[in-house]
Amino acid sequence: MRIDDPKILSALPDLGIERIAGASLAERTSLGIGGTTDLLVIRRHESLPEIARLLRDAGLPFRFLGGGTNLLISDGELPWVVLHLARPEREVRIEGNTVWVDAAADLGRTVTYCAKHDLGGMEGLIGVPGTVGGALRMNAGAYGTQIGSYVKEIRLYRGATGQLATLRDSEIRFEYRHTSFAPDDIMLAVKLELPSKPFRDILSGIRICNEKRRSSQPVNQKSAGCIFKNPPGMSAGRMIDALGLKGSHVGDARVSDRHANFFVNAGHATSADMLALVDRVRERVRDANAVDLEEEVIVWK
Ligand code: EPU
Repeated sequence: MRIDDPKILSALPDLGIERIAGASLAERTSLGIGGTTDLLVIRRHESLPEIARLLRDAGLPFRFLGGGTNLLISDGELPWVVLHLARPEREVRIEGNTVWVDAAADLGRTVTYCAKHDLGGMEGLIGVPGTVGGALRMNAGAYGTQIGSYVKEIRLYRGATGQLATLRDSEIRFEYRHTSFAPDDIMLAVKLELPSKPFRDILSGIRICNEKRRSSQPVNQKSAGCIFKNPPGMSAGRMIDALGLKGSHVGDARVSDRHANFFVNAGHATSADMLALVDRVRERVRDANAVDLEEEVIVWK
């Protein structure tokens, strides 16, 4: 969707917002899939309420893109404008065991930065790609760690009120790959409380998680991580694997040979290819196990 409203275009410089016209979202997602639209890069959190209001008044729908690592986006010219937070110069600030992190910060780099300050706990998250904001919204987790366990406060833009707000941990529900945030809430910054731990101990935890991940997941291929959530007490990857579906494909959308719950873009997969593969695998699992797999990946269509 192209922004041609002169009122919005003339407001952008004062709001510190850069417009990238006709941006390719395929270049901004880990799956390498997605169409084109106008992308607004926001440098000041305070500009969000105003740009959201201007877009709403002009009848232009918008969505928010974080690190793009858990997203499957439609192809072609997309029917919404996309907002994106620029990374600030200083992403992390530490005071004792308290850490303030900007939502646009890279999750892995944040984990290692905290480690260098002898703050641990998040070792399991080291190989999870994406931003801190994306991890918060999904309550990202791996190897027994979930980011929600360390949250004290979150600063966010609330879609419902159109205002910025701060929520304490007691006001947020973190569940398995799910949080109580509304779909139109946008994470801006977080205050974490991390346990003290010597750097070398954190580093050895990080190495173990990295090795486990490299040996069991297709870390060098284009994917959006696990496609389906694990149903309670079950493993989606194991069920798909047991049906012999590794390597099955629709076009270049392919079930990974390494981990059956990772679907990779092995070349020029389209969104339609990937969605067809998701449906096909879900049907096979439903027929064989009487279980309806729920997508873990966020689908924009
Ligand atoms: N398995 C197979 N075949 C496969 C894949 C897995 O038999 O192709 C078996 C494994 O041998 C193991 C079991 O299934 O016995 C579970 O596999 P794994 O340990 O790889 O964990 P997972 O449940 O498939 C979850 C998360 C991952 C996270 C890992 C490590 C979900 C949907 N997935 O995977 O998260 O990295 O644990 O903690 O919760 C993600 O969220 O995108 C993601 C990749």
